[in-house]
Amino acid sequence: MADELRHRKLAQTSEDPDASLLLSEDETISHDGPLVDSYGRHIKNLRISVTDKCNFRCVYCMPAEGLPWLPRADILTFEEITRIARVAVGLGIEQIRLTGGEPLVRRDIADLVAMLSAIPGLRSLSLTTNGVLLGRLARPLAEAGLTRINVSLDSLMREKFTQLTRRDALDQVLAGLEELEKYPTIHPIKINAVAMRGYTESEVLDFVALARRKAYSVRWIEFMPLDADQIWRKEDILTGGEIKDIIEAGYGPLVPVKTDDPSETARRYTFDDGVGEVGFINPVSEPFCRWCDRIRITAEGQLRTCLFAHTETDLRAVVRAGDDDEALAHAIRRAVWHKELKHHIGDKRFRRTTRSMSMIGG
Ligand code: 5AD
Ligand code: SF4
Repeated sequence: MADELRHRKLAQTSEDPDASLLLSEDETISHDGPLVDSYGRHIKNLRISVTDKCNFRCVYCMPAEGLPWLPRADILTFEEITRIARVAVGLGIEQIRLTGGEPLVRRDIADLVAMLSAIPGLRSLSLTTNGVLLGRLARPLAEAGLTRINVSLDSLMREKFTQLTRRDALDQVLAGLEELEKYPTIHPIKINAVAMRGYTESEVLDFVALARRKAYSVRWIEFMPLDADQIWRKEDILTGGEIKDIIEAGYGPLVPVKTDDPSETARRYTFDDGVGEVGFINPVSEPFCRWCDRIRITAEGQLRTCLFAHTETDLRAVVRAGDDDEALAHAIRRAVWHKELKHHIGDKRFRRTTRSMSMIGG
């Protein structure tokens, strides 16, 4: 079987003229053992986008008018997602995060959470949401077995929130967070704010106060060139280091939270009284590609081994061709083997991908 698979040509899509060269040389890929890439990174984290649709239009992600949504038939069904996830967990994936677009706009999303949480060997099942539907969905998600959650929240001021997301929904998101607190099996609750120069600085201390008042871990993530409108400029990045300086000017030196996990993207800190946690995700100023253990599947079943990838592997084609789990496993192993070394933001080799964040899943 292995030989037959080795010579098989899988459906590939690519924006990169050299990609076909890369993808044909898979002689070295093992058929068992851990899921590793050619740089020795062990892949343990899978992000699955369940829809490209979103009920927000964040300026750093989508155009105001939205994007042409994918036809429904192109999107993986819950059964297809669960099958791919099961095979991936069999290969060594330990954590799955559901993303979008906005994952909670996918109908019956809690049913998918229940299907995935039943996969033996999966250690963590989480979700990244804009929070606007949590008032209604926190309970079914908790009951379905969701274990962690990230809520995106960029401003605590109604006007600025509306300007950034192009939706007047701050109160609904805050109410969603309150609802979430009733379900302690979903833990921790993390708040992610995209840091943008000129927007973020003035509210840093308000977010710190929130992190100290509530059991939310607040993390700032540096703005990356993944916005559909292409407004991203290097000068717009507000680095984690700069935000840390703002906090330390108010609170004194932050105290690092120790971690054993080098693949953790956030540098986490607490305060000298131990109350509250903040974190900095610094993909631009301090790239963590060397320790990256993540791969992503888009809503239409394209496996991406980097946020900034120019090559994708069409897992939907494998699944819909009726191929067996071994073929699917091999397609995943082969894509992972060719995982990109790093993102190149900031050097002259950098080229944007044609997908925006909402079409990849954060
Ligand atoms: N840069 C950084 N983070 C982004 N997100 C969306 N677009 C960008 C970008 N251009 C974040 C969202 C959310 C997650 C899905 O990705 O705020 O937290
Ligand atoms: Fe929607 Fe998230 Fe993109 Fe905002 S960042 S438009 S919430 S997908």
